[in-house]
Amino acid sequence: MSINSENFSLLSKLPQYVFSSVNELKSQARSRGEDIIDFGMGNPDQPTPRHIIEKLLESAVQGRNHRYSVSAGLPKLRLAISNWYKRNYDVDIDPETESIVTIGSKEGLSHLMISLLAPGETVLVPDPCYPIHSFSVLIARGNIKEYNSIDDLKLLENIEKGLNSNPKPKALIISFPSNPTTQTVELDFFEKVVALAKKYSVIVIHDFAYADICFDGYKAPSFLQATGSMDVGVESFSLSKSYNMAGWRVGFMCGNSEVISALKRVKSYLDYGIFQPIQISAITALNGTQDCVHEIAENYKVRRNRLIDGLGKIGWEIEPPKATMFVWAKIPDRFLELGSLEFSKKLIKECRVAVSPGIGFGKSGDEYVRFALIENEQRIQQAARSIRKLF
Ligand SMILES: Cc1ncc(COP(=O)(O)O)c(C=O)c1O
Repeated sequence: MSINSENFSLLSKLPQYVFSSVNELKSQARSRGEDIIDFGMGNPDQPTPRHIIEKLLESAVQGRNHRYSVSAGLPKLRLAISNWYKRNYDVDIDPETESIVTIGSKEGLSHLMISLLAPGETVLVPDPCYPIHSFSVLIARGNIKEYNSIDDLKLLENIEKGLNSNPKPKALIISFPSNPTTQTVELDFFEKVVALAKKYSVIVIHDFAYADICFDGYKAPSFLQATGSMDVGVESFSLSKSYNMAGWRVGFMCGNSEVISALKRVKSYLDYGIFQPIQISAITALNGTQDCVHEIAENYKVRRNRLIDGLGKIGWEIEPPKATMFVWAKIPDRFLELGSLEFSKKLIKECRVAVSPGIGFGKSGDEYVRFALIENEQRIQQAARSIRKLF
């Protein structure tokens, strides 16, 4: 017998990321010795705050932390999560039944879908979206139904249309502040989503990865602040962005106890919990000084301003986002017909600037490219100067 990966049915549903063709061009250029200014991936470039690293070092030398941990997360970490919700959002979370630690949001969301869905069940996902929002559904052998999430004013209408369609969705994914679109909402939006969830009996999953990366006095609301939200859904948070801990793989999910217990059950078969020193460091991150969180957000704000100013000066006007580590830029009219993939390739070839093509996040993203603010101010200015030649 010869093994043929074409027989693995899931793989045909998981195509190569659209981003891979841009990545390919990027690495070819680099191998020719070209300096590419890289705004491609939302991978924080700054180190984790020192006090969190110190805690990791201290706890890593203690032998008792080398054993299997607890799949749902250390009770003290779940308590810290519950206190974090109370302090930041005045939301009460029972650490025992309404919270679970995840190996980053991606893992949590993927296993959540496996926990909730029977094969063939439908989930309503945004288009465009962060890729795991749709791929987690496919990995769980579910079906995706998309709602167009580009137009702020039509968001609720589009969600309701999707909820009211056949086959009836079992779950709805939302995420604000949004990657890639940088859209933000106020609490009344979540109140309306709760009302829709009750009307159409659907489970709401809110991805809150950019909770803390907010600017200009904007504070992103938690979905769990909405009245009745605990009856209908859960919220996922990640330490990756707020604390520059992307490589540590730690996050959590809180909310409806039936949903959380389903995820707990599935994960109890799959993992033994995150390496304990990482969980202990996560407690330090959540309970300790939050100055670092504000500094991280401030750094993205300064970079956002540089990019928006720099591009504005060359005639590429973009509304400054109120949150996230991204700038979601409408492709200038004269290049629109290229589409986002060809335009991104052009930026690499002619300007040595790498961005993510909007189509990589869904078909409705094709008139946009996404800049991740992971280059320093000087290189951002250099990128804007370099893009000038296209204008
Ligand atoms: C919306 C969104 N959710 C989740 C994640 C991934 O988070 P984690 O590192 O916790 O898996 C990202 C990372 O870019 C994101 O943008």
